[in-house]
Amino acid sequence: MNRLVVTLGRLHLKNPILAASGTFGYAREMEGKVDFAKLGGIIPKTVTKRPRIGNPPPRTVETPSGMLNAIGLDNDGIDHFIAHHLPYLKTLPTAIVANIAGKTEDEFLEMAEQIGANAPLPEGEGSGVRGLAGLELNLSCPNVSGGVDFATDPDVARRVVAGARRVCPLPIIAKLTPNVTNIVPIAQAAADAGADAVSLVNTFIGMAIDWKKRRPILGNVTGGLSGPAIKPLALRLVYQVARAVKIPIIGVGGISTIDDVMEFLVAGASAVQIGTANFFDPTVCGRLAEQLPQALEQLGATSVQEVVGQLK
Ligand SMILES: Cc1cc2nc3c(=O)[nH]c(=O)nc-3n(C[C@H](O)[C@H](O)[C@H](O)COP(=O)(O)O)c2cc1C
Repeated sequence: MNRLVVTLGRLHLKNPILAASGTFGYAREMEGKVDFAKLGGIIPKTVTKRPRIGNPPPRTVETPSGMLNAIGLDNDGIDHFIAHHLPYLKTLPTAIVANIAGKTEDEFLEMAEQIGANAPLPEGEGSGVRGLAGLELNLSCPNVSGGVDFATDPDVARRVVAGARRVCPLPIIAKLTPNVTNIVPIAQAAADAGADAVSLVNTFIGMAIDWKKRRPILGNVTGGLSGPAIKPLALRLVYQVARAVKIPIIGVGGISTIDDVMEFLVAGASAVQIGTANFFDPTVCGRLAEQLPQALEQLGATSVQEVVGQLK
Protein backbone atom coordinates (compact mmCIF):
# COMPACT_ATOMS: atom_id res chain seq x y z
CA MET A 1 0.00 0.00 0.00
CA ASN A 2 3.07 2.24 0.18
CA ARG A 3 2.51 3.75 -3.22
CA LEU A 4 -0.62 5.43 -1.87
CA VAL A 5 1.30 7.34 0.81
CA VAL A 6 1.21 11.10 0.32
CA THR A 7 3.23 13.88 1.89
CA LEU A 8 1.61 17.28 2.31
CA GLY A 9 4.37 19.45 3.72
CA ARG A 10 4.97 17.98 7.17
CA LEU A 11 1.79 15.88 7.03
CA HIS A 12 2.14 12.24 5.99
CA LEU A 13 -0.99 10.27 5.11
CA LYS A 14 -1.32 6.59 4.25
CA ASN A 15 -3.46 7.50 1.27
CA PRO A 16 -4.79 10.73 -0.27
CA ILE A 17 -8.49 10.23 0.59
CA LEU A 18 -9.79 12.34 3.49
CA ALA A 19 -13.30 12.85 4.81
CA ALA A 20 -14.16 16.57 4.61
CA SER A 21 -15.09 18.70 7.61
CA GLY A 22 -18.78 18.95 8.41
CA THR A 23 -19.74 15.85 6.45
CA PHE A 24 -18.40 13.15 8.77
CA GLY A 25 -19.45 14.49 12.17
CA TYR A 26 -16.83 13.69 14.79
CA ALA A 27 -16.50 10.17 13.30
CA ARG A 28 -18.49 8.49 16.10
CA GLU A 29 -21.58 8.99 13.98
CA MET A 30 -19.97 6.86 11.24
CA GLU A 31 -18.90 3.97 13.46
CA GLY A 32 -20.23 0.65 12.18
CA LYS A 33 -20.75 2.10 8.69
CA VAL A 34 -17.15 2.97 7.84
CA ASP A 35 -13.87 1.08 8.11
CA PHE A 36 -11.78 3.99 9.39
CA ALA A 37 -8.52 2.15 8.69
CA LYS A 38 -9.13 2.53 4.95
CA LEU A 39 -9.17 6.33 5.08
CA GLY A 40 -6.17 8.59 4.59
CA GLY A 41 -7.61 10.89 7.22
CA ILE A 42 -10.67 12.38 8.86
CA ILE A 43 -11.34 16.09 9.28
CA PRO A 44 -13.97 16.48 11.97
CA LYS A 45 -16.59 19.24 11.96
CA THR A 46 -15.25 22.77 12.52
CA VAL A 47 -15.03 23.84 16.13
CA THR A 48 -15.23 27.42 17.37
CA LYS A 49 -13.99 29.09 20.53
CA ARG A 50 -17.41 29.08 22.16
CA PRO A 51 -20.39 26.78 21.55
CA ARG A 52 -22.65 27.89 18.69
CA ILE A 53 -26.25 26.89 18.11
CA GLY A 54 -25.95 27.50 14.37
CA ASN A 55 -28.48 28.96 11.96
CA PRO A 56 -32.28 28.68 12.09
CA PRO A 57 -33.84 25.76 10.13
CA PRO A 58 -34.24 24.71 7.41
CA ARG A 59 -30.47 24.32 7.19
CA THR A 60 -30.16 22.13 4.12
CA VAL A 61 -31.92 21.81 0.79
CA GLU A 62 -31.28 19.43 -2.08
CA THR A 63 -30.50 21.03 -5.44
CA PRO A 64 -29.86 19.47 -8.86
CA SER A 65 -26.67 17.38 -8.44
CA GLY A 66 -25.89 18.94 -5.10
CA MET A 67 -27.12 20.53 -1.92
CA LEU A 68 -27.15 23.87 -0.17
CA ASN A 69 -26.32 24.04 3.51
CA ALA A 70 -26.38 26.82 6.05
CA ILE A 71 -25.53 24.98 9.24
CA GLY A 72 -23.79 28.02 10.70
CA LEU A 73 -21.03 26.12 12.50
CA ASP A 74 -23.30 24.47 15.04
CA ASN A 75 -20.84 22.97 17.55
CA ASP A 76 -20.17 22.64 21.28
CA GLY A 77 -16.97 24.69 21.32
CA ILE A 78 -13.29 23.81 21.45
CA ASP A 79 -13.13 22.84 25.14
CA HIS A 80 -15.81 20.20 24.60
CA PHE A 81 -14.04 19.04 21.43
CA ILE A 82 -10.76 18.57 23.27
CA ALA A 83 -12.34 16.89 26.29
CA HIS A 84 -14.92 14.75 24.52
CA HIS A 85 -14.25 14.21 20.81
CA LEU A 86 -10.48 14.37 20.48
CA PRO A 87 -9.68 11.45 22.84
CA TYR A 88 -11.99 9.23 20.77
CA LEU A 89 -10.67 10.52 17.43
CA LYS A 90 -7.10 9.81 18.55
CA THR A 91 -7.93 6.13 18.99
CA LEU A 92 -8.96 5.69 15.34
CA PRO A 93 -6.62 3.94 12.89
CA THR A 94 -6.31 6.98 10.63
CA ALA A 95 -4.94 10.52 10.71
CA ILE A 96 -7.04 13.22 12.34
CA VAL A 97 -6.86 16.80 11.08
CA ALA A 98 -8.68 19.10 13.51
CA ASN A 99 -10.57 22.01 11.94
CA ILE A 100 -11.08 25.38 13.65
CA ALA A 101 -12.76 28.68 12.83
CA GLY A 102 -12.24 31.86 14.82
CA LYS A 103 -14.41 34.95 14.80
CA THR A 104 -11.26 37.04 15.19
CA GLU A 105 -7.59 36.50 14.43
CA ASP A 106 -6.92 36.17 18.16
CA GLU A 107 -9.52 33.43 18.47
CA PHE A 108 -7.84 31.51 15.66
CA LEU A 109 -4.51 31.68 17.45
CA GLU A 110 -5.92 30.77 20.87
CA MET A 111 -7.58 27.70 19.39
CA ALA A 112 -4.53 26.74 17.31
CA GLU A 113 -2.49 26.84 20.51
CA GLN A 114 -5.05 24.74 22.38
CA ILE A 115 -5.11 22.10 19.63
CA GLY A 116 -1.32 22.21 19.38
CA ALA A 117 -1.04 21.45 23.09
CA ASN A 118 -2.71 18.11 22.31
CA ALA A 119 -0.30 17.30 19.51
CA PRO A 120 1.93 14.27 19.89
CA LEU A 121 5.66 14.77 20.18
CA PRO A 122 7.39 14.47 16.80
CA GLU A 123 7.89 10.82 15.90
CA GLY A 124 9.90 11.44 12.77
CA GLU A 125 9.14 10.27 9.28
CA GLY A 126 5.80 8.55 8.92
CA SER A 127 4.15 10.22 11.88
CA GLY A 128 0.68 11.43 11.16
CA VAL A 129 -0.70 8.27 9.62
CA ARG A 130 -2.83 8.07 12.76
CA GLY A 131 -3.59 10.21 15.77
CA LEU A 132 -3.85 14.01 15.76
CA ALA A 133 -1.80 14.82 12.69
CA GLY A 134 -2.71 18.28 11.45
CA LEU A 135 -4.75 21.43 11.83
CA GLU A 136 -7.03 22.80 9.11
CA LEU A 137 -7.92 26.47 9.42
CA ASN A 138 -11.46 27.04 8.16
CA LEU A 139 -10.82 30.50 6.75
CA SER A 140 -13.83 30.17 4.58
CA CYS A 141 -17.17 29.36 6.15
CA PRO A 142 -19.82 31.25 4.21
CA ASN A 143 -22.64 30.74 6.70
CA VAL A 144 -21.57 32.63 9.77
CA SER A 145 -23.44 35.90 9.72
CA GLY A 146 -21.38 38.75 11.06
CA GLY A 147 -18.26 36.60 10.85
CA VAL A 148 -15.27 37.77 8.87
CA ASP A 149 -14.39 35.70 5.86
CA PHE A 150 -10.68 35.38 6.50
CA ALA A 151 -9.88 33.95 3.10
CA THR A 152 -11.13 36.89 1.06
CA ASP A 153 -8.12 39.07 1.97
CA PRO A 154 -4.56 37.82 1.35
CA ASP A 155 -3.12 39.90 4.21
CA VAL A 156 -5.58 38.52 6.75
CA ALA A 157 -5.08 34.97 5.49
CA ARG A 158 -1.30 35.45 5.74
CA ARG A 159 -1.52 36.72 9.33
CA VAL A 160 -3.79 33.93 10.52
CA VAL A 161 -1.65 31.20 8.92
CA ALA A 162 1.62 32.70 10.17
CA GLY A 163 0.17 33.04 13.67
CA ALA A 164 -1.09 29.46 13.69
CA ARG A 165 2.33 28.23 12.58
CA ARG A 166 3.92 30.13 15.44
CA VAL A 167 1.72 28.71 18.17
CA CYS A 168 0.92 25.20 16.88
CA PRO A 169 3.50 22.50 16.09
CA LEU A 170 1.12 20.55 13.85
CA PRO A 171 1.12 20.77 10.05
CA ILE A 172 -1.17 23.66 9.03
CA ILE A 173 -3.68 23.48 6.20
CA ALA A 174 -5.50 26.62 5.06
CA LYS A 175 -8.99 25.93 3.72
CA LEU A 176 -9.96 28.60 1.23
CA THR A 177 -13.22 29.95 -0.10
CA PRO A 178 -14.09 29.92 -3.78
CA ASN A 179 -16.22 33.04 -3.25
CA VAL A 180 -13.54 35.47 -4.41
CA THR A 181 -12.61 37.05 -7.72
CA ASN A 182 -9.12 35.56 -7.71
CA ILE A 183 -8.13 32.77 -5.36
CA VAL A 184 -4.46 32.68 -6.42
CA PRO A 185 -3.13 35.59 -4.29
CA ILE A 186 -4.88 34.15 -1.25
CA ALA A 187 -3.38 30.70 -1.77
CA GLN A 188 -0.02 32.38 -2.36
CA ALA A 189 -0.37 34.32 0.91
CA ALA A 190 -1.12 31.10 2.81
CA ALA A 191 1.93 29.47 1.22
CA ASP A 192 4.17 32.46 2.03
CA ALA A 193 2.98 32.34 5.64
CA GLY A 194 4.10 28.74 5.99
CA ALA A 195 0.99 26.66 5.36
CA ASP A 196 1.87 23.02 4.70
CA ALA A 197 -1.02 22.78 2.22
CA VAL A 198 -4.17 24.53 1.05
CA SER A 199 -7.60 22.91 0.82
CA LEU A 200 -9.56 24.05 -2.22
CA VAL A 201 -12.46 24.64 -1.77
CA ASN A 202 -15.24 25.30 0.67
CA THR A 203 -18.80 25.72 -0.64
CA PHE A 204 -20.02 28.25 -3.21
CA ILE A 205 -22.58 30.74 -1.89
CA GLY A 206 -26.00 30.18 -3.40
CA MET A 207 -29.69 30.26 -2.57
CA ALA A 208 -32.94 28.41 -3.14
CA ILE A 209 -36.38 30.00 -3.34
CA ASP A 210 -39.93 28.75 -2.86
CA TRP A 211 -41.52 31.09 -5.37
CA LYS A 212 -45.08 30.16 -4.39
CA LYS A 213 -44.44 31.41 -0.89
CA ARG A 214 -42.07 34.06 -2.21
CA ARG A 215 -39.63 32.97 0.48
CA PRO A 216 -36.06 31.72 0.60
CA ILE A 217 -36.00 28.03 1.55
CA LEU A 218 -33.03 28.23 3.93
CA GLY A 219 -33.53 29.86 7.31
CA ASN A 220 -30.28 31.75 6.70
CA VAL A 221 -31.54 32.87 3.22
CA THR A 222 -28.22 31.92 1.56
CA GLY A 223 -26.14 28.78 1.94
CA GLY A 224 -23.13 26.94 0.56
CA LEU A 225 -23.50 24.80 -2.56
CA SER A 226 -21.67 21.45 -2.56
CA GLY A 227 -21.79 18.09 -4.31
CA PRO A 228 -21.27 16.98 -7.93
CA ALA A 229 -22.67 20.31 -9.20
CA ILE A 230 -19.52 22.14 -8.06
CA LYS A 231 -16.92 19.65 -9.29
CA PRO A 232 -15.98 21.48 -12.51
CA LEU A 233 -15.70 24.75 -10.57
CA ALA A 234 -13.46 23.26 -7.88
CA LEU A 235 -11.36 21.49 -10.49
CA ARG A 236 -10.69 24.76 -12.28
CA LEU A 237 -9.58 26.42 -9.02
CA VAL A 238 -7.23 23.55 -8.18
CA TYR A 239 -5.72 23.70 -11.66
CA GLN A 240 -5.28 27.46 -11.46
CA VAL A 241 -3.65 27.43 -8.01
CA ALA A 242 -1.45 24.42 -8.86
CA ARG A 243 0.18 26.39 -11.64
CA ALA A 244 0.91 29.35 -9.37
CA VAL A 245 1.69 27.99 -5.90
CA LYS A 246 4.33 25.48 -4.83
CA ILE A 247 2.77 23.96 -1.69
CA PRO A 248 0.54 20.86 -1.98
CA ILE A 249 -3.17 21.27 -2.70
CA ILE A 250 -5.98 19.18 -1.27
CA GLY A 251 -8.84 19.16 -3.79
CA VAL A 252 -12.39 19.35 -2.44
CA GLY A 253 -15.66 19.74 -4.29
CA GLY A 254 -18.10 17.26 -5.73
CA ILE A 255 -15.83 14.23 -5.58
CA SER A 256 -17.73 10.93 -5.46
CA THR A 257 -16.06 8.53 -7.93
CA ILE A 258 -12.53 7.31 -8.62
CA ASP A 259 -12.63 9.24 -11.91
CA ASP A 260 -13.29 12.42 -9.93
CA VAL A 261 -10.32 11.64 -7.66
CA MET A 262 -8.01 11.08 -10.63
CA GLU A 263 -9.17 14.28 -12.33
CA PHE A 264 -8.24 16.29 -9.23
CA LEU A 265 -4.85 14.59 -8.93
CA VAL A 266 -4.02 15.20 -12.58
CA ALA A 267 -5.19 18.82 -12.24
CA GLY A 268 -2.65 19.33 -9.45
CA ALA A 269 -4.13 18.13 -6.15
CA SER A 270 -1.88 15.92 -4.01
CA ALA A 271 -4.83 14.64 -1.97
CA VAL A 272 -8.61 15.02 -1.95
CA GLN A 273 -11.44 15.44 0.52
CA ILE A 274 -14.83 13.85 0.12
CA GLY A 275 -17.76 15.83 1.52
CA THR A 276 -21.37 15.60 0.35
CA ALA A 277 -20.88 12.09 -1.11
CA ASN A 278 -20.58 10.76 2.48
CA PHE A 279 -24.24 11.65 2.96
CA PHE A 280 -25.47 9.43 0.15
CA ASP A 281 -22.80 6.74 0.65
CA PRO A 282 -20.91 6.62 3.96
CA THR A 283 -18.60 3.93 2.55
CA VAL A 284 -17.42 6.08 -0.36
CA CYS A 285 -14.05 7.19 1.09
CA GLY A 286 -12.89 3.63 1.81
CA ARG A 287 -13.99 2.44 -1.60
CA LEU A 288 -12.15 5.23 -3.40
CA ALA A 289 -8.96 4.37 -1.51
CA GLU A 290 -9.36 0.74 -2.58
CA GLN A 291 -9.92 1.70 -6.21
CA LEU A 292 -6.96 4.05 -6.39
CA PRO A 293 -4.13 1.53 -7.06
CA GLN A 294 -5.90 0.24 -10.16
CA ALA A 295 -6.54 3.75 -11.46
CA LEU A 296 -2.86 4.63 -10.94
CA GLU A 297 -1.89 1.48 -12.83
CA GLN A 298 -4.00 2.62 -15.76
CA LEU A 299 -1.67 5.60 -16.06
CA GLY A 300 1.39 3.39 -15.56
CA ALA A 301 2.10 5.19 -12.27
CA THR A 302 3.64 3.53 -9.25
CA SER A 303 2.81 6.32 -6.80
CA VAL A 304 0.18 9.02 -6.30
CA GLN A 305 2.84 11.71 -6.62
CA GLU A 306 3.65 10.58 -10.18
CA VAL A 307 0.26 11.70 -11.45
CA VAL A 308 -0.13 14.93 -9.47
CA GLY A 309 -0.35 17.90 -11.84
CA GLN A 310 0.40 15.78 -14.91
CA LEU A 311 -2.25 17.45 -17.04
CA LYS A 312 -0.92 17.87 -20.57
C1 LIG B 1 -23.61 19.98 5.53
C2 LIG B 1 -22.21 20.52 5.33
C3 LIG B 1 -21.53 21.03 6.41
C4 LIG B 1 -20.23 21.53 6.25
N1 LIG B 1 -19.56 22.00 7.32
C5 LIG B 1 -18.27 22.39 7.19
C6 LIG B 1 -17.51 22.78 8.33
O1 LIG B 1 -17.98 22.75 9.47
N2 LIG B 1 -16.23 23.18 8.12
C7 LIG B 1 -15.65 23.20 6.88
O2 LIG B 1 -14.45 23.54 6.76
N3 LIG B 1 -16.34 22.82 5.78
C8 LIG B 1 -17.63 22.42 5.91
N4 LIG B 1 -18.33 22.01 4.81
C9 LIG B 1 -17.70 22.09 3.47
C10 LIG B 1 -17.11 20.75 3.05
O3 LIG B 1 -16.07 20.33 3.93
C11 LIG B 1 -16.56 20.85 1.60
O4 LIG B 1 -15.52 21.82 1.55
C12 LIG B 1 -17.62 21.24 0.59
O5 LIG B 1 -18.86 20.65 0.91
C13 LIG B 1 -17.25 20.84 -0.84
O6 LIG B 1 -17.03 19.47 -0.97
P1 LIG B 1 -18.17 18.40 -1.44
O7 LIG B 1 -18.76 18.94 -2.71
O8 LIG B 1 -17.46 17.09 -1.60
O9 LIG B 1 -19.20 18.38 -0.36
C14 LIG B 1 -19.63 21.52 4.95
C15 LIG B 1 -20.34 20.99 3.86
C16 LIG B 1 -21.61 20.49 4.04
C17 LIG B 1 -22.33 19.92 2.85
